[in-house]
Amino acid sequence: MTVPFVDLAALVRPSRAEYLAAFERVLDTGGFVGGPAVAEFEAAFAAYCGAPHAIAVRTGTDALVLALRALGIGAGDQVITAANSFFATAEAISHAGATPVLADVDDATLLLDPADVARRVTPRTRGVIAVHLFGQIADMAALGAVAEAHRLHVVEDSAQAHGATRRGTDGADRRAGAIAQVAAFSFYPTKNLGALGEGGAVTTRDGAVAERVRQLRDHGQAGRHDHVDVGYNARLDALQCACLSVSLGRLDAGNAARRRLAAHYRARLAALPGVRLIAAPAGSAPVYHLMVIRVDAARRDAIRDRLAAEGIATAIHYPRPIHLQRAYAHLGQGPGSCPVAERAAAEMISLPMFPDLTIAQVDRVIDALGDALAAALG
Ligand SMILES: Cc1ncc(COP(=O)(O)O)c(C=O)c1O
Repeated sequence: MTVPFVDLAALVRPSRAEYLAAFERVLDTGGFVGGPAVAEFEAAFAAYCGAPHAIAVRTGTDALVLALRALGIGAGDQVITAANSFFATAEAISHAGATPVLADVDDATLLLDPADVARRVTPRTRGVIAVHLFGQIADMAALGAVAEAHRLHVVEDSAQAHGATRRGTDGADRRAGAIAQVAAFSFYPTKNLGALGEGGAVTTRDGAVAERVRQLRDHGQAGRHDHVDVGYNARLDALQCACLSVSLGRLDAGNAARRRLAAHYRARLAALPGVRLIAAPAGSAPVYHLMVIRVDAARRDAIRDRLAAEGIATAIHYPRPIHLQRAYAHLGQGPGSCPVAERAAAEMISLPMFPDLTIAQVDRVIDALGDALAAALG
């Protein structure tokens, strides 16, 4: 039995008729950019997140850039974010004209460490991007306290956390996208909520920020041919929005399936010596965008090779922390500046995780992993 890392064809197959009907509706209206399909998806996604505003944009990277620019962050500013995110999180800071500062993560959760963020604040720091990595929400209460003390904006990078919740200090559970002032989502097809192509969105509770994002995604126009800013063509087309409305309808079922699979993985993995799990923070309901484990760094590649030989696909998210990427050598944050992220990068393995994975496939992964660990240790 082979086990793929994800199976996107299986994911969309049950909704085929709904996607085709959505497609036909857009064809019939002739509104391919903007129009009701975009407005309907934005309203549905805002309601899902519990945020007053959602603005659909071309990609998750654009969502981050527009969120930062809408907050007035730009040249001369610094924005702190996690060293162990996808490169786009830092890239967006650079595209907004600011400088990324990479901070370390908590060793148990691999989420941004608020104490390390506080240590890296300078007079130029204007914002923090909290990354909800692997489907778990960052410690927004502690990050909010750091931000308040230094008057910083907080942006949620929610690209991996559609539908994840975390309990606030007031006891209320909030979804990704409705915790900080502004949040950015990706709808890349492998995400928990995926388009049939590229897509992204900004959510916010701030009407002025929503208005700025709407202008920036449409060449900085406040009205037709009234350009108040140098913006972008970052609009998400109607076909993608129509398809996203279909995908949104099965997001909760997909997340529930991921949680069931993760519970099975975690129960069985706990019995395997040499495997470390990522801790779920108290009060947090993760959506397991990825199923990541940690093993001895010296044996990680041999374990992955053995799994591959057994037909089990794995990945690494992410093999090199952002501050050690060549593109950011000029930042001067060399090896040792984020030791937890650096160690984790050498130890992590992402195991197969997608809603249509079966319990039998999970058992196959764990049996093969047990053999690979025994061989590596022996
Ligand atoms: C944490 C994180 N941030 C940002 C992005 C960028 O999103 P996109 O690929 O839609 O530009 C991604 C996904 O690719 C991501 O995983």
